[in-house]
Amino acid sequence: MGFRKVAELDALRDGGVTGVEVDGVPIALFRQGNEVHATHGICTHALAFLKDGYVENGTIECPLHQGVFDIRTGRALCAPLTQDLATYAAKVEGGDVLVDLE
Ligand code: FES
Repeated sequence: MGFRKVAELDALRDGGVTGVEVDGVPIALFRQGNEVHATHGICTHALAFLKDGYVENGTIECPLHQGVFDIRTGRALCAPLTQDLATYAAKVEGGDVLVDLE
């Protein structure tokens, strides 16, 4: 399917996280200046939406048990996490945020 528009850059808070849904899949978008990173939107530990988490220094802290993931690589950085988060290719074009879910 390739890249498709999922948001407008201006709608994303710089340094924050925004949740969107693409084909029923929850996605977390992380804006860092004019760059955006995309991960799966649900924690790998239990059912918590990362859009409600806390972004700091390139990481997202889960709102439920404070597990921390790297937002670029999806790597699980601490307990209680044991599984990395899926990441997706993302890019910004003409003010649009595009994500490739494959
Ligand atoms: Fe995210 Fe437990 S649900 S750390």
